[in-house]
Amino acid sequence: MSMIDEKALIKAALLAREYAYAPYSGFSVGAALLSSDGRIFTGCNIESASYTPTTCAERTALVKAISEGVRHFSAIAVVGSKTGEPPSSFCSPCGVCRQFLYEFYSPGFMVYMAKSPDEFIMRPLDELLPLAFGPKSLLS
Ligand code: THU
Repeated sequence: MSMIDEKALIKAALLAREYAYAPYSGFSVGAALLSSDGRIFTGCNIESASYTPTTCAERTALVKAISEGVRHFSAIAVVGSKTGEPPSSFCSPCGVCRQFLYEFYSPGFMVYMAKSPDEFIMRPLDELLPLAFGPKSLLS
């Protein structure tokens, strides 16, 4: 049996998605990041009229955790689709978020991409970002 309560994590991501501020794309995303000590940090996407500063849900969640002194994680759940509609496909983290998550990667970190608590796919982060450039790359 998995140590991760993926249904609870996905539910938290779905709730966080309700707070998405996405007036330009009309695409609402929620994320829930599980720390190694069992805490959940949630995030939503936050867009900007000057599009570039837009922050994805995953990075919102990660920034909240890091800024509260939490740096070790075991999983993240992501849900996203058109605002006001239930997720109709699996929203996978964008490249920037994969890289940002990899900064705090530890082996086994799992990415859950969900439509609902009962319907999801999962991949280890290192499979979503092969040959990753990360903190260790700067040491050699
Ligand atoms: N978005 C996320 O929040 N996470 C992703 O992994 C994919 C994209 C957001 C960014 C933007 O606000 C909207 O979805 C459309 O790209």
